[in-house]
Parts: sequence; structure tokens; C-alpha cells
Amino acid sequence: MRHLSLILVPFLVASALCRNILLTNDDGWATAQIRAQNDALLGAGFHVVISAPAENESGTGSDSADPEPLTEPCEFDTCPTGSPAEGFNSSDPRINYVNSFPVDAALMSEVRVPSFIVCILLF
Ligand SMILES: *[C@@H]1O[C@H](CO)[C@@H](O)[C@H](O)[C@H]1NC(C)=O
Ligand SMILES: *[C@@H]1O[C@H](CO)[C@@H](O)[C@H](O)[C@H]1NC(C)=O
Repeated sequence: MRHLSLILVPFLVASALCRNILLTNDDGWATAQIRAQNDALLGAGFHVVISAPAENESGTGSDSADPEPLTEPCEFDTCPTGSPAEGFNSSDPRINYVNSFPVDAALMSEVRVPSFIVCILLF
């Protein structure tokens, strides 16, 4: 997936049509990589919403399930046991987790992103 980002990000940066971006991944919402990608895209003037799994879901492919409340802390202790199935960073509500698979994180973001979103990045 990282090789894909090397191709996609410069393309998207060059695109004037793609200003609203849903950023997701399979390694989890709290990884340094997704946060750095978020910062870089924000710095380049894009409107970005992160919606990614609460935990590392690497290798889960197209698995899907209804999100459930956390039975253990989110990745890197970024939310406590018992947190809701979906949540966000209280100081930056554009940064969201979904306690399920990457596919579900992308689908659940519908309610949080503008309806005119045109680009979805999966790293
Ligand atoms: C997520 O899990 C995969 C597979 O176990 C591993 O290769 C990767 O390093 C993990 N990512 C993080 C951020 O821990
Ligand atoms: C929440 O957002 C702030 C500001 O962007 C950031 O410094 C912090 O690391 C974030 N924490 C989590 C758990 O996302």
C-alpha cells in the first residue's frame, strides 16, 4: 500500500478537482503514517477526514462486520476499553475510528464527510 501512496499523493496534489479526501488505512487510525499523510494533505490545502480502524487490521482484506464497542483499548491506548463502536478525537473531530475492518471504516465515514467528496485514499 505504501508504494501506491507514492503514486497517488502527487497525482492528487496536482488535481484541482479533488479537494475533499477520505483518508483510511488498514494499520489503524493512530499510526504515525496516517497522521503524517493527514498533515501533509491539510498543509497542501485539502479538506481531509480520517476514518480508519480502531486497531491494526492489516491483512483482513475485504472482511466486514458491524462495529462494536471496544473490549480493549484502541491502538496505542488512544481510547479506553468500553469506548463506543465509533469515535473521534475530541480536539480534532475530523480524526475518526471505527471498531471494525477497513471497509467498514470507509463506509461509516459517509456521515462525516461532505457529500461532494470525490477521492478516497486507502494506504
Ligand atoms: C500491523 O500488523 C501487520 C501484520 O501483523 C504488521 O506488519 C504491521 O507492522 C502492523 N502495523 C502497526 C502500525 O503496528
Ligand atoms: C488528537 O488530535 C490532536 C490534535 O491534532 C493530536 O495532537 C493528538 O495526538 C490526537 N490524539 C488522538 C488520540 O487522536
